[in-house]
Amino acid sequence: MNKLETALIACADRVTDSLRECLTAEDPTCEPLFEAMRYSALSAGKRIRPYLTVEFCRLFGGREEAAMPFACAVEMIHNYSLIHDDLPCMDNDDFRRGKPTNHKVYGETTALLAGDTLLTQAFATCASNAYVSPASVQHAVAYLAKAAGGVGMAGGQMIDTAADGKLNTREALEHMYRLKTGALIAAASVLGVYAATDAPTAEMLKDTETFSYNVGLAFQFMDDVLDVTADAEEFGRPTGSDDKNQKTTILSFLTMEDTLARVRSLTEEAVAIISKYPDSENLISLANYLVTRRK
Ligand code: IPE
Ligand code: IPE
Ligand code: MG
Ligand code: MG
Ligand code: MG
Repeated sequence: MNKLETALIACADRVTDSLRECLTAEDPTCEPLFEAMRYSALSAGKRIRPYLTVEFCRLFGGREEAAMPFACAVEMIHNYSLIHDDLPCMDNDDFRRGKPTNHKVYGETTALLAGDTLLTQAFATCASNAYVSPASVQHAVAYLAKAAGGVGMAGGQMIDTAADGKLNTREALEHMYRLKTGALIAAASVLGVYAATDAPTAEMLKDTETFSYNVGLAFQFMDDVLDVTADAEEFGRPTGSDDKNQKTTILSFLTMEDTLARVRSLTEEAVAIISKYPDSENLISLANYLVTRRK
């Protein structure tokens, strides 16, 4: 295992421990709902978004302790989005992270509520971050709400599912990807900045966003590539989901070779932006890893 993989796994373990604490029902009669939330949120995700939160916090001089509640909040929203994304009314997928999807185990009603509750709990956890100033919390909540909402992830999922997954131009596809995938990845990073300081400079925020949207677009392009090329067992979910749902993906506009070249150039741009900061090597390694990932 290389240094990045070791760091990612160690961070993922700490995130999973924190999530477990956040996802315990105070009222035992609500336990079945929390069980469904934990089933997804504690399963083996790559935890790339929380890693971004922790690493951007570190980049700007903050401590992991301060980043962790924000990191968990973003990961809860990501997990809610996946539970809903897999539902029969959306992508209708049966496997995620090597296990049956939430609705396959608990039924659609519970899956819907588990998603709703992860979304709500994310804001409770974000707002209760005791290691940062009230101004940082305020910025983080506002940024996360926008990134997850109607002009962010949910808005992107709407465009993705409307018109039966058909988008006519590459520009329209990339716009949708910036919303459905890029916005939450950017939020993960920007919340890391707010965990480090409640008064970031405009340049810090711009560099963080540019890095993240580049990485996010490259990430979603790789998701499209892996949907075709991955080994389903290693991928942890069925391949061919996009084909099954007749989705427009980047491969509808570019050849495989050109897609991979674009992924590399987006990553190189991202790396160039972040390289000016001392201690950016973990973020550079992450960006480079996302190009070669197999799951
Ligand atoms: C999958 O995200 C959904 C997309 C936005 C493409 P990840 O590939 O980060 O999923 P996990 O959390 O590692 O399972
Ligand atoms: C989903 O995109 C992105 C989300 C906002 C959940 P996909 O539908 O391509 O994600 P996977 O491939 O099911 O993980
Ligand atoms: Mg989808
Ligand atoms: Mg899907
Ligand atoms: Mg996909």
